[in-house]
Amino acid sequence: MQTVFRGRHFIDLEDFSREEVETMLDVSADLKLKFAQGIPTPYLRDQSMFLMFFEQSTRTRNSMEAGFAQLGGHAGFLDSSSMQIAHGESAKDTAIILSRFGHAIACRYCNWGYGNKYLNEMAKWSKVPVMNLQCDLYHPFQALADILTMKEKFGGKLDRLKVSIIWAYAESHKKPISVPVSQVLLFPRLGMDVTLAHPKGWELPDWVVAKAKANADRYGGTVTVTDDEAAAYRGAHVVIPKNWGNWVNDQTGNAPAGAVKVVDDALKAHRSWKCTEEKMAAADKNVIYMHALPADRNNEVEDSVIDGPHSVVYDEAENRLHTAKAVMTLLMNGR
Ligand code: CP
Repeated sequence: MQTVFRGRHFIDLEDFSREEVETMLDVSADLKLKFAQGIPTPYLRDQSMFLMFFEQSTRTRNSMEAGFAQLGGHAGFLDSSSMQIAHGESAKDTAIILSRFGHAIACRYCNWGYGNKYLNEMAKWSKVPVMNLQCDLYHPFQALADILTMKEKFGGKLDRLKVSIIWAYAESHKKPISVPVSQVLLFPRLGMDVTLAHPKGWELPDWVVAKAKANADRYGGTVTVTDDEAAAYRGAHVVIPKNWGNWVNDQTGNAPAGAVKVVDDALKAHRSWKCTEEKMAAADKNVIYMHALPADRNNEVEDSVIDGPHSVVYDEAENRLHTAKAVMTLLMNGR
C-alpha cells in the first residue's frame, strides 16, 4: 500500500491504482475471514452514512446497509422519490447538507447521461466521501466483488485468465452498461485476457474500449472485441453473459421508470444470445459462470447453467458484502 484512502471518493476504479485495488481486495479477504469467525470489526463505530437510491436494488443496498452496521455504524436508506430531489433540489445542496450530517454519502443513479454527472457534482461539494452504488457509466463495487470471486476460485492467479464478457438477451428491464464497462476496464489491469462479445448495435462507447486496451497494454492483459458469440465461449475460464441496454440507438435519458420500451424488433433479433449448457460445453472444463444478478432467467441464461455446477453467482453476490465493507473502511477510516 502506498497512498492515502481516507476521504477519497469512490466513483470509478480508474481513480485508484492497481496497488490500491489490490489493497481493497486484501482488506475484503481479511474482513471476510473475520466475519466467518465471528470476530467483531467495529472500524466505523458511531459513524453515519446515507444511501441514496434513484432505482431499485437488492444486493447493493443490503450489502452496504448490513456491512456498515457490521462495521459499527448506521446507514440511512434514502429513496430519492421521497426526498426534496423530487421537487428539484440540486445535487449541490443535497450533498452539502448530507455531508454536514454524516460521514459518507453513497448514491445509485443509472439514468443515461445523468447518473455519473450527478455523482461527480455531489463529490464536488461533499466534505465526506461519495461512493458510487452504480451510475450510467460505472459499477465499481460490482467489478471489485467479481475480482475477489475470481481470485478465490482460481487460487489468486488472475494473470492470463481468459474472461469473456458476453452480451445476453433480456426482457426484464433496460439494464445499464455500467457493469460491463467497469469489468472491461478493470479486468485487463489484473493481467487478464478479456473478450468482449456483443451483437452489432450493442457496442460499448469507443472511449471505453480504447481505455480498456490501453489498460491491457500497460498491465499485460489483452482486450478483444467481437460479434462472434461462439468464439467468446471457446476455451474461456470465466464467462459473464449479461444483458446491457442499447444506449447507442436509444438514449432515453431521464425518462421515468416504465416509459422506456425494453423489447423491440432489434432486440428480439438477438434472442439466441442466451447462455446455454451447449455453449458452456465449449469453454474450459473448469469454467465459472458469473452474473452480477438479477438475472433474467431463461432469457439471459438457462436455469440449468445458473443453477448448475459451474455457477458461482451466489458467492459473487456474497462478496458484494465483503468488498463493500473494505471500501467503506478504507475511505472512512483508512490512512
Ligand atoms: N448487482 C447489483 O448491483 O444488484 P442490485 O441491483 O440488486 O443492487
